[in-house]
Amino acid sequence: MTTFSSVDALIDALRAAGYFADRRLATAVFLALKLERPLLLEGEPGVGKTELAKALSVVLQRQLLRLQCYDGLEQREALYEWNYAAQLLHMRAAQAHLEAGPGDAVAQVEREVYQDRYLIRRPLLQALQAPAPGAVLLIDEVDRADEPFEAFLLEYLGEYQVSIPEIGTVRAAVKPVTILTSNRTRELNDAVKRRCLYHWLDYPERDRELAIISAQVPQAPEALAQQVADVVTRLRSLPFSNAFQRAPGIAESVEWAKALVALDTLVLDPEVMTDTAGIMFKQREDVAALTTAMAESVLQPPQADA
Ligand SMILES: Nc1ncnc2c1ncn2[C@@H]1O[C@H](COP(=O)(O)OP(=O)(O)O)[C@@H](O)[C@H]1O
Ligand SMILES: [Mg+2]
Repeated sequence: MTTFSSVDALIDALRAAGYFADRRLATAVFLALKLERPLLLEGEPGVGKTELAKALSVVLQRQLLRLQCYDGLEQREALYEWNYAAQLLHMRAAQAHLEAGPGDAVAQVEREVYQDRYLIRRPLLQALQAPAPGAVLLIDEVDRADEPFEAFLLEYLGEYQVSIPEIGTVRAAVKPVTILTSNRTRELNDAVKRRCLYHWLDYPERDRELAIISAQVPQAPEALAQQVADVVTRLRSLPFSNAFQRAPGIAESVEWAKALVALDTLVLDPEVMTDTAGIMFKQREDVAALTTAMAESVLQPPQADA
């Protein structure tokens, strides 16, 4: 497996893959790799949780396996299921043989339907069985799944193994690098947290936001990219319960920079801000809340306190 001699080496590798990590995040990732522990990333939507797992699979040169969680997600979509249709065909083909054959032929056919070729592997099992150098397993938005599903994950998270009744215990050949993300729509089970290293991922500070915008929208003039980073950072620092319902994420600031370039904008003004509010905000009330007066105030450079 690709290893990193230091946190700085990891920061550089991630940057080369297009991901800008601050030191605290990189330290958490570095430790998760060194200690071979799953890493739980919590944070607001759009702060770069999913993207980190993608970037990590690139720098580690491991395949990315992704399990998107949702309400009602079941084990058979996460781990494995049997190819029922193929099993039925197998039984039918064996039927003639059964009718003629000895008594124990029935048991034989029953065993045969649990052969490897009738097993459909889902991301967790794929991750455990991935050949060297192993996989990166992203268990995305685990807060959307329900509590029984979290309980089901415990064996995997604690021991990198799962128990399958018909097969036995499947243990990881190479421990998958495992990233869990949560948008914190609900509190996760303590048992899950205990098995993971934890990192709260915040919005980037202004300079990192600027670096991301400049990297992803190289056609944006430097002055414009700076303005976008300033405005987005200020919008996020407003007391949101009063002003907006949901702050713009990094994807929104990148989109906004692209839109401004498409409109040939060189310098932000309140009018272009309100005209393009739908790119930064995805809630009707928030779009309406970005009034000209509000736009004017966030465009002002912050006043130095006297
Ligand atoms: N640190 C970062 N470096 C580069 N791009 C980033 C970073 N964080 C977020 N992004 C960009 O923002 C987008 C949204 O991030 P994403 O990982 O989907 O957020 P989350 O999973 O936290 O909701 C990504 O597609 C990526 O383009
Ligand atoms: Mg995500």
